[in-house]
Amino acid sequence: MFAIDLTGRVALVTGSTRGIGRAIAEELTAAGARVAIVGRDAAKAEAVAAEVGGDAKGFGCDISDPAAVTALVEAVEAAFGSCDILVNNAGITKDNLMLRMKDEDWDAVVDTNLKAAFVAIRAVQRGMMKRRWGRIINIASVVGLMGNKGQANYAASKAGLIGLSKSVAKELASRNILCNVVAPGFIRTDMTDAMAPAAVEALSAAIPLERLGEPADIAGVVAFLASDRAAYITGQVLPVDGGLVM
Ligand code: NAI
Repeated sequence: MFAIDLTGRVALVTGSTRGIGRAIAEELTAAGARVAIVGRDAAKAEAVAAEVGGDAKGFGCDISDPAAVTALVEAVEAAFGSCDILVNNAGITKDNLMLRMKDEDWDAVVDTNLKAAFVAIRAVQRGMMKRRWGRIINIASVVGLMGNKGQANYAASKAGLIGLSKSVAKELASRNILCNVVAPGFIRTDMTDAMAPAAVEALSAAIPLERLGEPADIAGVVAFLASDRAAYITGQVLPVDGGLVM
C-alpha cells in the first residue's frame, strides 16, 4: 500500500488555525508528524492543536513581524527538539485596482506573504543543515503564475515566493534540504466563501474539473512533498487547481 509516513518529523505550519493551513496540519499529523500550529492568537492556536490531536502544539505569532517569526522558530525547536518541515502557508489579500492601491496595502501583503517566508526559511535552515534533512513547502497561488486584475500586490508576493523558493532549492540542495511550491487554484475557504454564488459558478465553469478545490486537495500534495516519496523533487511549482492553468 502507498502510505506517506512522517513519523519522527516535526512540522511548522504557519496560518494553520483554519482553512488550507489547518487541513495541512491535520494531514501531516495523520501521517505521524508532530505539528506546530501557528496563528496570530496563541489561545486559538492551542485550541486548534488540541482538536488536531497527535502531538500538535499551538503557538501565537504575527508573522508580519520578522523578530516574532525568528522567535517562533526558536520556540518550536525548543518545544519539539527540531523543525524538519516548514510550510509557509499564512497569507492575506488586500485587493484593489492599482490606481487605488495604497502603499500600506502593498507592504502588508508583501510582508505577510513573502518576507515572513524568507525570515522563517532563514531561521529553520541552520538546524536543517546540521541534520542534513529538510523540507520547505511554500504555498503560493496560480495568481502568481497568471497575474490577476486587482491583485497586483498579492500576485507579486506569490510570484516572489516562487523566485525565493527556486533560490532556496539551489542554495540548500547539497544539504538535502528540498524546497518546493504548491500553487493552489480556487479552494473553498473563508477567503473564497466571501464570493457571490454567481461568481463561484462562473469560475467553476472555467475549471476543467468543474468544481472549486477543497483544503484537503492541497493538504495531500503537501504531505507527499514533505515525505521521502518526494526525495528527488526540488525547486518545482506544482499547481493544484483542477486544471485551470496548463
Ligand atoms: P485563510 O484566510 O482561511 O487562512 C489564512 C491563515 O493565515 C489564517 O489562519 C490566518 O490567521 C493566517 N494569517 C494571516 N495573516 C497572518 C499573520 N500576520 N500572522 C499569523 N497568521 C496569519 O486563507 P486560506 O484560503 O486557507 O489560504 C491559505 C494560503 O493559501 C494563503 O497563503 C493563500 O494566499 C493561499 N491560497 C489560497 C487560495 C484559495 O482559493 N483559498 C488560492 C490560492 C492560494
